[in-house]
Amino acid sequence: MQPYVTLTIDGATVRASRAKSVLDVAIEYGICIPHLCHLPQMSDLAACRLCIVEHVRNGRSEVTTSCTLRVQDDMVIRTNTEKIRKLRRNIAELLVAEAPNSRAIQDIAVRCGVKQVRYPFRNKNCVLCGRCVRVCTEMWSARAIGFVGRGKDRHVDFPFGVRPDFCKQCGSCVQLCPMTITPCDGPMNPGEERLCGKCEAQLLVTERMPDSCVWCQLGSGFSCARYAS
Ligand code: SF4
Ligand code: SF4
Ligand code: FES
Repeated sequence: MQPYVTLTIDGATVRASRAKSVLDVAIEYGICIPHLCHLPQMSDLAACRLCIVEHVRNGRSEVTTSCTLRVQDDMVIRTNTEKIRKLRRNIAELLVAEAPNSRAIQDIAVRCGVKQVRYPFRNKNCVLCGRCVRVCTEMWSARAIGFVGRGKDRHVDFPFGVRPDFCKQCGSCVQLCPMTITPCDGPMNPGEERLCGKCEAQLLVTERMPDSCVWCQLGSGFSCARYAS
């Protein structure tokens, strides 16, 4: 079996290692698919659903998360159709409603075209993206934190709620958490469900794809090429 495949993303023919996900390949080629829970070199949970794309097969398209979709030969992927933009906008809006004071989530939402949030604020301090749990388990092999509980009680915690001795105190869980970037325009309160739009202003100068990056401040966490340079 050939180690490389050739596929089409947004009309561009790209070559990629068979082991990679559509999201990783798109990012590599400068096609920005908004994403939150994905971390390079780590497993994917498909928790945030922001990275959805259309996978076209036999004339029919299926909406699926690109972080969990492995590349295949002759695949046809569309990342930026009207259908995807609308679904993604709604997902981003729900995320803002969950955690309205996360700068990272606000930036992503603006990038997805959200201007107003139609859902009630829940003011959660965690969106269950699992970035902290995976960095702890997969990068540090510490397993000092994990998901606890089910349904609406699901949250991240130490075993029995107490920091264990085997926590390496590396701080990676905090650094990679989308809740830790300070909001750019102060906290949003119920009744003020409007995004500040500062990131949107940057869209005007970077409207061409694939150069539509809005410097969403997630780059360091996401290993975005812009922040690596
Ligand atoms: S500080 Fe502790 S809990 Fe956080 S990633 Fe490091 S080892 Fe895991
Ligand atoms: S604590 Fe932060 S990184 Fe961990 S799951 Fe919640 S939002 Fe994600
Ligand atoms: S990045 Fe794919 S579901 Fe979150």
